[in-house]
Amino acid sequence: MKTFVFTPENEKKFQEQSKKYPNSDAMMLPCLWLVQEQENWVSPEAMVFIANKLKKTPIQVYEVATFYTMFNLKPIGTYHIEVCKTLSCMMMGANDLIKFIKDTIGIEPGQTSKDGKFHLSQVECLGACGGAPMFALNGQYHENQSVSSLGDLLKECK
Ligand code: FES
Repeated sequence: MKTFVFTPENEKKFQEQSKKYPNSDAMMLPCLWLVQEQENWVSPEAMVFIANKLKKTPIQVYEVATFYTMFNLKPIGTYHIEVCKTLSCMMMGANDLIKFIKDTIGIEPGQTSKDGKFHLSQVECLGACGGAPMFALNGQYHENQSVSSLGDLLKECK
């Protein structure tokens, strides 16, 4: 079975963050974020790793990881595009962004491109409604977007 370990840099971050939290329960989410930063998803092996690290059972880690929608539980593309599908973004053109991605990259929400570069998700409000339509690219917000600005950004990703 494949194993997971933190990179030396993430092990250092883990040690530093551990000092800020009162117990291992509170460290669960920061630990899951570190794993996702490192691998772009949270694998079963990584859940076992976290469980050992925090002295929990793997099922306890699984319960938390599957509760929150922001954790990727299967491999996704190098570039994760999360287009907001809530009211303000929808009214301001989120569907045009989704259609553009479908037409240019060939993926629909929930799909990863064949080359493994892009994964598209439609997500609920990301709290940047004033900048609608918006999307996040690998967690970084891009507000007031258009098909043209999205196209420019995607070219930089290739
Ligand atoms: S509606 Fe899109 S960020 Fe809130």
